[in-house]
Amino acid sequence: MVQAKIGIIGGSGLYKMEALKDVQEITLDTPFGSPSDAIITGTLDGVTVAFLARHGRTHHLTPTEVPFRANIHAMKQLGVEYIISASAVGSLKEEVKPLDLVVPDQFIDRTKNRISTFFGEGIVGHVAFGDPVCLELAKVLADAVESLNLTDVDLHRGGTYICMEGPAFSTKAESNLYRSWGASIIGMTNLTEAKLAREAEIAYATLALVTDYDCWHPEHDQVTVEMVIGNLHKNATNAQKVIQETVHRISDRPFVSTAHSALKYAIITPLEKAP
Ligand code: ADE
Repeated sequence: MVQAKIGIIGGSGLYKMEALKDVQEITLDTPFGSPSDAIITGTLDGVTVAFLARHGRTHHLTPTEVPFRANIHAMKQLGVEYIISASAVGSLKEEVKPLDLVVPDQFIDRTKNRISTFFGEGIVGHVAFGDPVCLELAKVLADAVESLNLTDVDLHRGGTYICMEGPAFSTKAESNLYRSWGASIIGMTNLTEAKLAREAEIAYATLALVTDYDCWHPEHDQVTVEMVIGNLHKNATNAQKVIQETVHRISDRPFVSTAHSALKYAIITPLEKAP
């Protein structure tokens, strides 16, 4: 099977990487069922990567239905050590404008209805998650954005991503509550992925593509799917350029992330006693 050190997970509107060459479609099975879709491997400037459309290429999975554990397991089977996740988000701050790019460094969990751990069934572990993204990878990602000098797009380094359950968008009261917490952006998927990637000892960072002002802004319409997809289409080329540049930078200077040894002090169950 093809092995790839770099995985890319694309969210709403990012269902393929146009620049991929030598493309192969790989159907994998995992102990957690099938991933969201076939994994597409290929090369970007000669570097092998594995791409997965989080909601499926036909966008048939709600955030709650995304088989997050199978997705991360499949990436691990392919030898992935770094995951770049590209995701549409709403903005919770005036200065974070639609079409801007954010590389968040914190998350708040507002999910209710999904499994976000590989532990359980006899094996208990608690990974460190104070820094939920790999800060080295986040820096490479943000530096890649900066190096491209994208017109009319501001980069925001750091910021808190609220991960909500969905699929309905937030109420105004919720949106304003999250603003009062100082959060920058809101989405429905990335925290679950980040937790599982950490447990799988994969370095993970998010490129968040801002598509709307959620529903709190008095001078902007409330978020709609049309708004999200319309702005994503405007930004999809930028997202792919950033990902390509990030892949190039990782392969030029691979680094050891603390995420790569996340399980070292995490498992409580004596493994000889595990089922
Ligand atoms: N994805 C894009 N915009 C969003 C929003 N306002 N809330 C949650 N997820 C989103």
